[in-house]
Amino acid sequence: MIVLKSQDEIERMAEACRIAAEALEEIRKMIAPGITTMELDKFAESFIVSRSAAPAFKGYRGYPASLCTSVNEQVVHGIPSMTRLKPGDIVSLDLGVYYRGFYGDTAATFPVGYVSNTAKKLIAVTAEALNAGIESAVIGNYVFDISSAVQKYVEENRFSVVKNFVGHGIGRELHEEPQIPNFVPNSREGMGAAIMEGMTLAIEPMVNAGTWEVSILDDGWTAVTKDGSLSAHFEHTVAVTKNGPKALTKLDL
Ligand code: MF3
Ligand code: CO
Ligand code: CO
Repeated sequence: MIVLKSQDEIERMAEACRIAAEALEEIRKMIAPGITTMELDKFAESFIVSRSAAPAFKGYRGYPASLCTSVNEQVVHGIPSMTRLKPGDIVSLDLGVYYRGFYGDTAATFPVGYVSNTAKKLIAVTAEALNAGIESAVIGNYVFDISSAVQKYVEENRFSVVKNFVGHGIGRELHEEPQIPNFVPNSREGMGAAIMEGMTLAIEPMVNAGTWEVSILDDGWTAVTKDGSLSAHFEHTVAVTKNGPKALTKLDL
């Protein structure tokens, strides 16, 4: 069941989303060679708690941290550790916030110092693919129009979309219906759900420089590319309104 939100509910959700966006922006400023991903996680948690909010991921299905930190070939769900970021790395940060009954969810990939041209392009293409997906989240479209816009942009740029993880509805739950794949499913059973006013969607392309296939490490969480190629991840929580899509986790909203 897809839960539509009223204007009032969207305004309240925007508060959770703003905290998530501000947290990500502050963590971004800390990224530098030598910092550990665990330090970023500790900061994320204290920032969220200082805003009277709660980290959405901690304890979710047993996840042990407030932040997901996925470095280089890690796709998503990397667990913060004593690993130090080094020049040339790219790091994907994913962050969820729960505030007054609603969730916000956002992610982005950042370079650590100078990075390769491939890394730069991968980050830019993934960010643009997310924008293409957001622009397709309009009344009258279908969920797979979002999927199609993301996939097309990524494949035109000769990268691949991860198929094992999807975007999702979000609201009073972190993960709600509908699922939002970043590719159009082959058994094209229609176009997915019709996009309607009041839908709140977490759109989140995961893009690999090489093969789309991923494996899960022995920690049970960390997804990595099967060929060891780089991966990037961007995510916004988006409200579908009469006036078009509103990315609630964008700071310049
Ligand atoms: N990254 C997922 C999302 O954006 C949620 C992470 S769940 C966790 O929907 F448990 F790994 F944190
Ligand atoms: Co997320
Ligand atoms: Co999400």
